[in-house]
Amino acid sequence: MELLQQIKKSAKKLNKRIVLPEGLEKRTLRAADILLEEQIVQIILIGNPNKIKNEAEKLNLRNIKNAKIVDPINHEKKGEYTDLMVEIRKEKGLTKSEAIKLIEDPLYLGPLMIKSGDADGEVAGAMNATGDVLRPAFQYVKTMPGISVVSGAFIMILKEKEFGHDGMMVFADCAVHPDPTESELAEIAIATARTTRTIAGFEPRIAMLSFSTKGSASHEMVDKVVNATRIVKEMEPSLTIDGELQVDAAIIEVIGKKKAPGSEIAGKANVLIFPTLESGNIAYKLVQRLAHAEAIGPVLQGMAAPINDLSRGCSYSDIVNLVTITANQAAGL
Ligand code: ACO
Repeated sequence: MELLQQIKKSAKKLNKRIVLPEGLEKRTLRAADILLEEQIVQIILIGNPNKIKNEAEKLNLRNIKNAKIVDPINHEKKGEYTDLMVEIRKEKGLTKSEAIKLIEDPLYLGPLMIKSGDADGEVAGAMNATGDVLRPAFQYVKTMPGISVVSGAFIMILKEKEFGHDGMMVFADCAVHPDPTESELAEIAIATARTTRTIAGFEPRIAMLSFSTKGSASHEMVDKVVNATRIVKEMEPSLTIDGELQVDAAIIEVIGKKKAPGSEIAGKANVLIFPTLESGNIAYKLVQRLAHAEAIGPVLQGMAAPINDLSRGCSYSDIVNLVTITANQAAGL
């Protein structure tokens, strides 16, 4: 696919270091082998070095020898990372002995490597639940300046080219934060604008979605979207954004003109911001299944360094794609 080819090309130039905490997992190893062979990124695998080497031999993966392998139980930076963990979480009451145990967990070691400047991004989740991948990321890598909430965007590649940017749209939040406040919703829109520029490669035209268009309904859920739109305009006046809009007014020009005359966005939106995770998650899956759109993501956004979560049902090529996206996000930051 064209977008993924472009992202791969730019990742090659960036040469980022991506840590894969599930270093013994077969699909992860296969993906790492391809990424190394094609020289898309530098790979850091977490796991017992002998076990990783044996598994790579069994799978006949010849490029794994070029990965950096970090043994979570025994490596030279264990003490340094443990001290950093305690420093970051001392107000939360983390003790040294708790940190010594936690740092042996690859899902904590990965974010600590990033925090210490020893890696640029992480991809995990082929064999761990979302919460277990994200919690250490939230706690140690944290969010980027100006953003307090992490969210997940999908790049939707539609069959009908008349929608969005030549058939491409970005949807958020479809993956992380169940019920954002108005200021969190504003942050999600701002973070999605960045993802749209860095990963999807086009200029965002953002619709803040609701079940109401320009006052057609009154409800506190509508007020949330209206206020979030105002906050975005105050925080980033250069963004092209409008709300509250119903989705038909946002994407269909004749309806947009009728329901929201004079709107710069109505009928032309290429970024859709959903008021809750429920609506975003349901919408992306409906578009994927009923309209046979390709859904790339979730691309996690708003973190100080990129950490992305895989579905446990992922294929090795999904891992290759997500690592490639992660490398591009690292550059965008
Ligand atoms: N952004 C930034 N930080 C966050 C966020 C967020 N969105 N959510 C939680 N945190 C922080 C908290 O502030 C807390 O920090 P602290 O320990 O310093 O106080 C820490 O992370 C843990 O917070 P909890 O509230 O305990 O969060 P928990 O770990 O229980 O849950 C999770 C986080 C797993 C992301 C939860 O919000 C969740 O389950 N979201 C839905 C995920 C999901 O199921 N998505 C749909 C499927 S994905 C798909 O279909 C593609």
